[in-house]
Amino acid sequence: MESPARPAPVAAKATAPADPPGSYRNPSAATGAAVEPQTVHNVASAPAKSMDLEAVNIYYGSFLAVADVTLPIAPRSVTAFIGPSGCGKSTVLRTLNRMHEVIPGARVEGSVLLDGMDIYADDVDPVNVRRVVGMVFQRPNPFPTMSIYDNVVAGLKLDRKRCPKGSALDDVVEKSLRGANLWNEVKDRLKKPGAGLSGGQQQRLCIARAIAVEPEVLLMDEPASALDPISTLAIEDLVHDLKSRFTIVIVTHNMQQAARVSDTTAFFNLAGIGQAGRLVEFGPTEAIFSTPQEQQTEDYISGRFG
Ligand SMILES: Nc1ncnc2c1ncn2[C@@H]1O[C@H](COP(=O)(O)OP(=O)(O)OP(=O)(O)O)[C@@H](O)[C@H]1O
Ligand SMILES: [Mg+2]
Repeated sequence: MESPARPAPVAAKATAPADPPGSYRNPSAATGAAVEPQTVHNVASAPAKSMDLEAVNIYYGSFLAVADVTLPIAPRSVTAFIGPSGCGKSTVLRTLNRMHEVIPGARVEGSVLLDGMDIYADDVDPVNVRRVVGMVFQRPNPFPTMSIYDNVVAGLKLDRKRCPKGSALDDVVEKSLRGANLWNEVKDRLKKPGAGLSGGQQQRLCIARAIAVEPEVLLMDEPASALDPISTLAIEDLVHDLKSRFTIVIVTHNMQQAARVSDTTAFFNLAGIGQAGRLVEFGPTEAIFSTPQEQQTEDYISGRFG
């Protein structure tokens, strides 16, 4: 497979001298000085990180669901995962923040690097990985009985010691809701339940909740698939804004959406039912949609299958 857009190599994991700000390592690991995870609440200063999958195989029990994925994900950009149902887009996405392994029997082989450091290394705490690599799911999933305000801070409150208090917390809520382009619609009803919002507003609330904890990478699994066209465009505009601060990976079935929002597109496919999904090709979105290197990609994007 050609890899037309491989960015500059990331730092070698073995030579990383110390944990950088935003460390996701387990402070209790026996590997030397503990570094506190990042707690900065200045969204603009969040250093977006690159990710790299290297020869990754992903299993559910003995079933090899996705085979041999090597893919660089550039910081401060949007990477779209496209491909037919069952090819492993969500599986690969969940591998990027160690959500895959919460499924019993699920495991990952190969390396997944965050700015050159292996998130599956023994001394890495998956909870810290998930703080740095946030996720927004296909269906908006606000906590229904919680207020809008409490939904935004739900992730922050998981870490009581580091959670800002009083007006500092109010500031985080405002900044996160502004970041999710929802502030003006909800600022007068912050104490009302999150369930009282429209579907598109709920999805933006979930995005506010995800960015409130200051992730450096944001994973989105078909975040607009349950939404009407207006809300879909609002989410796409938001993704476009967010990429100046975050590294974004988005799964979508919508070719136009991939073309509109992403800088890089990765096309996955599978040879047949029960076979492993594979990365067929990736590259600048414009090139993938205009001059794909592989016939399978051309067939898919032109609607001949999938
Ligand atoms: N929890 C699970 N247990 C066992 N197998 C699973 C599980 N989740 C997914 N799979 C299998 O892994 C493969 C990839 O599934 P995945 O959900 O990643 O595909 P997808 O590309 O996201 O599909 P879709 O576009 O329908 O969301 C499929 O064969 C699927 O049946
Ligand atoms: Mg999926």
